[in-house]
Amino acid sequence: MSGAALDLVIRNARVATAADVFTADIGIAGGRIALLGGGLPAGAAELDAAGRTVTPGGVDSHCHLDQPIPAPMRMADDFETGTRSAACGGTTTVIPFAAQAKGESLVAAVEDYHRRAAGRAAVDYAFHLIVSDPTPRVLADELPGLIRDGYTSFKIYLTYDDLKLTDGQVLDVLAVARAHGAMTMVHAENADCIAWLTKRLVEAGQTAPRFHAASRPMVVEREATHRAIALSELVDVPILIVHVSGGEAVEQIRWARDRGLSILAETCPQYLFLTADDLGLDDDYAGARCVCSPPPRDAANQEVIWRGLADGLFTVFSSDHAPFSYDDPAGKKPGGNEVSFEHIPNGIPGLETRLPLLYSEGVLGGRLTVNRFVELTATNPAKLYGLYPRKGTIAIGADADLVIWEERDVHVQNANLHHAVDYTPYEGRRLKAWPAKTISRGKVVWDGKTFTGRPGDGEFIACSAPSLLPRRVP
Ligand code: URP
Ligand code: ZN
Ligand code: ZN
Repeated sequence: MSGAALDLVIRNARVATAADVFTADIGIAGGRIALLGGGLPAGAAELDAAGRTVTPGGVDSHCHLDQPIPAPMRMADDFETGTRSAACGGTTTVIPFAAQAKGESLVAAVEDYHRRAAGRAAVDYAFHLIVSDPTPRVLADELPGLIRDGYTSFKIYLTYDDLKLTDGQVLDVLAVARAHGAMTMVHAENADCIAWLTKRLVEAGQTAPRFHAASRPMVVEREATHRAIALSELVDVPILIVHVSGGEAVEQIRWARDRGLSILAETCPQYLFLTADDLGLDDDYAGARCVCSPPPRDAANQEVIWRGLADGLFTVFSSDHAPFSYDDPAGKKPGGNEVSFEHIPNGIPGLETRLPLLYSEGVLGGRLTVNRFVELTATNPAKLYGLYPRKGTIAIGADADLVIWEERDVHVQNANLHHAVDYTPYEGRRLKAWPAKTISRGKVVWDGKTFTGRPGDGEFIACSAPSLLPRRVP
């Protein structure tokens, strides 16, 4: 860069990438990183980051925003409130899901989802697909066309009546992923086991939120994880197991890796910071706040998840933000009622707290290097879903998406968060850090106190081929 003006210079940053930590000034022009080095020329604006670590803006590769779901349920966050919340917690790219309903076209679902996002997103976004009805037309035309157009990843479900696929349908979808170089994300829980356990629990009058965990024990996840691995092996295509909750699923993934299979894995904050006890120790309905699938497990399983984050078992750390307010007829109290656990919408909010939780307890708590933190929360999701090197790193030419961290005592309170959900499962938790600034394509969108971004400033980004796929020998 010779002579061109810098819009913003961040001075004396302790820059952390997935590979390195070094001290430098960061020069930004036209929303991109233009210069990295010492003693950069003055910028139109300047920020001093002396003593502060600067990481790439987070890429949250699993979150749900304004996803159409059966009435009376409705997600509390749309693209405006969800991306505002993301920005205030250091996330500058989100990848929510354009979901196909059974009987509907996948292309129509994508078009509808673009309408929901347009003019509302404050940070950049891409789309995953959810494939719930892999008809011959979807498999032969719609999916290949969408992959070509930049929707290179899709989620499939082994549970939930309105979403689940049979094993044969899973094989069909995996074959398309193999033929066209896409990434398949698998929600691995055994639907029939859950239905069987649920029926028995309800017949016994055990309907409080805490029985949600009893209806989906670890073995239910372990079996489906193993089955997903076997189906992936049969088709010879990589998959990613999403929201892995504990030891028995981790064992399956380690076993698959030992066999040389390309099985990638994701976990989420709820499996580090919540346990099944958060669904309630008695029949109190308040535990509905923490109903999500798979359910949080116990302290021993949390330790297994921490180990997998540190040792490379997990590829990405996502929020699985699924926003339903507690005191809401469209949320955790469907129709205004305290319902049996099987009717409580699944999911918890977490877009804004994902990075601060992992930075505080992982990096500052001595469990993860800052490089591994960056890899899990930004670099790997960007690579996996075809957004790298534009997103997910601090390098010349990359988008200037940055977090300047401030180490301070933080008291998590929902009143201070920016989503539209009426609670956080982490209320009252003390953290050691929070973003002092979040910068999205060179613009400060969170200044440490207020959201300074604007709905509509976020751009849709078409994804390239996933670049963590192993090379194939023809
Ligand atoms: O409980 C969850 N995880 N809800 C969100 C939807 C999903 O399966 O990820
Ligand atoms: Zn899921
Ligand atoms: Zn999810």
